[in-house]
Amino acid sequence: MDKVALVTGSSSGIGFETALALARHGYYTYATMRDTKKGDKILEIAKKENLGINVIELDVNSEDSIKKAVEKMLSEKKRIDLLVNNAGYFLVGCLEDMTEKDLRDQFETNFFGVVRTIQSILPTMRNQKSGIIVNVSSVAGRIGFPVTPGYISSKFALEGLSESMRYELVPFGIKTIIIEPGVIKTNLFSTLKKATRSDPAYKDITQKVMKGLLMMSEMGTPPQEVANTIVKAISSDNPLPRYPVGNDAIMFLEAKKAKTDIEFENYIKKELFS
Ligand SMILES: NC(=O)c1ccc[n+]([C@@H]2O[C@H](COP(=O)([O-])OP(=O)(O)OC[C@H]3O[C@@H](n4cnc5c(N)ncnc54)[C@H](OP(=O)(O)O)[C@@H]3O)[C@@H](O)[C@H]2O)c1
Repeated sequence: MDKVALVTGSSSGIGFETALALARHGYYTYATMRDTKKGDKILEIAKKENLGINVIELDVNSEDSIKKAVEKMLSEKKRIDLLVNNAGYFLVGCLEDMTEKDLRDQFETNFFGVVRTIQSILPTMRNQKSGIIVNVSSVAGRIGFPVTPGYISSKFALEGLSESMRYELVPFGIKTIIIEPGVIKTNLFSTLKKATRSDPAYKDITQKVMKGLLMMSEMGTPPQEVANTIVKAISSDNPLPRYPVGNDAIMFLEAKKAKTDIEFENYIKKELFS
């Protein structure tokens, strides 16, 4: 019997490549997306390569949409072996430029979207006494950075959730894995949402950071590397809690580990302001 996977946000980037990589690895994969019209490309590749991929609608902001997608998957396959929580977007703007709604919307997708999706599949995984949950966080889930506090705090929250649920789910044979990509070349940067306000007090730092991020995104790690890391992590009998992806992620996370808080802050300031 095929193992069954569900990937959120499969219309592009990391989710698209992960859904393909999982199908190539033998999973029957539900490549979910909020607009299924964006599913033509993945279905075309699936047809060409004879892969088990089904595109279905799932908007992580909607409990009803998640419920319908999970019901469809379970009615067809009766099980779920792997959930990849990937859907997310990038809110950019300093704290004072964000409205409360900007921040709540960011958490609605990047954090509560993950919570809702996990809660909808956990009863099935507990009954099966097996399953793997992969949460696509970011190096931004471990390191603070100016001009992106909304995105960063949503990923910090996701890290806390993931690290804690990992213990809770052990007795049910369910594994939790966090993926921490650095800058990846995807649509994340072209579809970013700007904070509602733009106070001139933050204009310089916002422009500087945005310019740096857009430059880095052009040279970013290909999303296939994230997909390959996910396949490697789920194939392990004892997956690690966290898998960084990309040289930039490894460099920042190693620096964070090796330095005191103040040393690390000075290192980031040097990168930013010199
Ligand atoms: N790119 C990076 O540098 C990077 C680094 C670290 C972590 N990440 C994380 O990787 C994940 C995937 O991002 P990406 O880089 O692959 O960017 P992407 O190409 O923009 O993909 C984002 C995906 O999330 C989907 N999405 C957004 N809101 C959604 C919702 N409410 N319900 C369902 N799907 C939704 C998008 O769907 P639509 O097509 O409908 O918009 C798209 O499929 C995100 O969680 C992101 O935070 C990215």
